[in-house]
Amino acid sequence: ARLVVLVSGGGTNLQALLEACADPSYGAQVVAVGADRPGIEGLARAERAGVATFVCRVQDHPTRADWDAALAAEVAAHRPDLVVLAGFMKLVGESFLAAHGGRVVNTHPALSPSFPGMRGPAEALDYGVKVTGATLFMVDAGVDTGQIVAQTTVPVEDDDTVDSLHDRIKVAERTMLVEAVGRMAREGFTVEGRRVRFGR
Ligand code: GRF
Repeated sequence: ARLVVLVSGGGTNLQALLEACADPSYGAQVVAVGADRPGIEGLARAERAGVATFVCRVQDHPTRADWDAALAAEVAAHRPDLVVLAGFMKLVGESFLAAHGGRVVNTHPALSPSFPGMRGPAEALDYGVKVTGATLFMVDAGVDTGQIVAQTTVPVEDDDTVDSLHDRIKVAERTMLVEAVGRMAREGFTVEGRRVRFGR
């Protein structure tokens, strides 16, 4: 399966996918990595792995909708079977979902439906939950609302800070991402209502 991965930052989730894809039995290849900003470590990781990269910045387009359509076209040019948002910090819009909807997954550092949005680890800490985690889900028009593909749990420790908790989540998140994307690639998947099943 051909994967296009979109990143906005450090790209540790991307790195885990690149390493998994180095084994042919994994059943997927990262064919391109895109970002909404230049100069980030995620893009450098792709370049070091010899993977094509592109940057699509909102400010280079007259409207957000134009940016979304341009991003959709850049992604489409690489003919992905699956698009993985791995720490991509922008919401994709109508054109993107029209082109790629149903085969776009995103990873969220909380147990959906708890704590959607950008502050999952901080909100889990503030709320005082004892268990949090990460969620891989199908991207739809909402914020972290799509059907759940996989989840993994992580304990919250008494002395956690946002950073220590997010770091622990990210370790589990990477494992979940690599396992679930590999299964989607090798086995296929079907979506029925809220349920996602591996297999064709
Ligand atoms: C991940 O925890 C992701 O879920 C969140 O930001 C982090 C990205 O990390 N949205 P990285 O760029 O993959 O290192």
